Amino acid sequence: MRKTATTQSGGTIPAQPGPRDATDSTRREAAVSGGSSSVVAAGESGPQSGIVSAEGDMSGASVSAAVDADAVILGAGPSFRPGERATVRLRDADPDDPPRYAPEWLELREGADAAARAHDLLDPLRIRLANLPGRSGVVIHDVGCGTGSMGRWLAPHLDGSQHWVLHDRDPYLLHFAAVASPRSSADGSRVTVETRRGDIGRLTPDALVGASLVTASALLDVLTREEVATLAAACAGAGCPALLTLSVAGRVELSPSDPLDTEIAEAFNAHQRRSGMLGPDAVTAAAEAFSEYGATVQVHPSPWRLGPGESALTAQWLRGWVGAAVEQRPELRERADRYLQDRLAACEAGELHVVVHHSDLLALCRPTGGAS
Ligand SMILES: C[S@@+](CC[C@H](N)C(=O)[O-])C[C@H]1O[C@@H](n2cnc3c(N)ncnc32)[C@H](O)[C@@H]1O
Repeated sequence: MRKTATTQSGGTIPAQPGPRDATDSTRREAAVSGGSSSVVAAGESGPQSGIVSAEGDMSGASVSAAVDADAVILGAGPSFRPGERATVRLRDADPDDPPRYAPEWLELREGADAAARAHDLLDPLRIRLANLPGRSGVVIHDVGCGTGSMGRWLAPHLDGSQHWVLHDRDPYLLHFAAVASPRSSADGSRVTVETRRGDIGRLTPDALVGASLVTASALLDVLTREEVATLAAACAGAGCPALLTLSVAGRVELSPSDPLDTEIAEAFNAHQRRSGMLGPDAVTAAAEAFSEYGATVQVHPSPWRLGPGESALTAQWLRGWVGAAVEQRPELRERADRYLQDRLAACEAGELHVVVHHSDLLALCRPTGGAS
């Protein structure tokens, strides 16, 4: 039987299937507006040609096996059992294609993300939105939306009717975002969504015309400096504030500690910066980019605090964290393998606590006098 997760909106995010597996009713529901850029319908795109799974049974969680099996995903890492993969690769995919995020990973982290986001940034945001001229509702663009967790978290924190425009380059994830979108705001007003497939690196102020707010979650650290600059320019050009949550800060605390913690953390951070991605430099880069346009920028911590109640997420995160470190520094492999086994055993025994530091950033761009 297929495993599904019920979301706050009442929709479901299938744990395994691609768009082809959606029922007729969910397909209809997903066929929200968006014109030529709306979510790709079942059968037209997405990984229905088959997800290439990791070779072999890696349930032993060996770092060596993990590294050999597939590339790791920054900030998330690989998972080794079918249905638990953080990234998926399509058969016939070009090796240069960007990684695609598994909905299972996004689902696994959604609760911890919701608990971590900085509520302190909500009041200044509410004030800004309340002062928008002549508005009966807000239009919110969520960039790199994945399966839409940001909307499911934020929509019930804001009053009034909301229209969400969900952007991602992955039509498979956009499908799930549309199906499981939030339905009502804090005061019960209507929430509607549309999806847009596209690359953030090509976002223009035109794409944000009429926007009241741009949001993102767990995105900045996987962008390049140029992509962050493009995002800041688009928001500034549209005079639109941006709430950019859960960027990795590059700091992790594990309790009890282990002599290898620091080496793994440093190797992981170096791995994050590969291929020009910002990794732990993302928030500083974004703050600078928005400030250059005269925006007021506030940054607040938003750490994951993972204890025995989050052991599934912690285990998955550990596999990815250590796997990335070893991919970056293969000479760590033998020691890291032992380290991971010990850490996973402690996690399963409920004896491990982890704080993974993140930052949330609110940029209040100067209004342009237009819609926003
Ligand atoms: C770590 S996931 C986060 C998803 C979601 N915001 C969440 O918090 O669950 C990053 C998302 O950004 C998307 N993404 C990354 N780079 C992108 C780009 N350049 N253009 C469009 N989408 C991008 C990925 O497809 C993925 O859905």
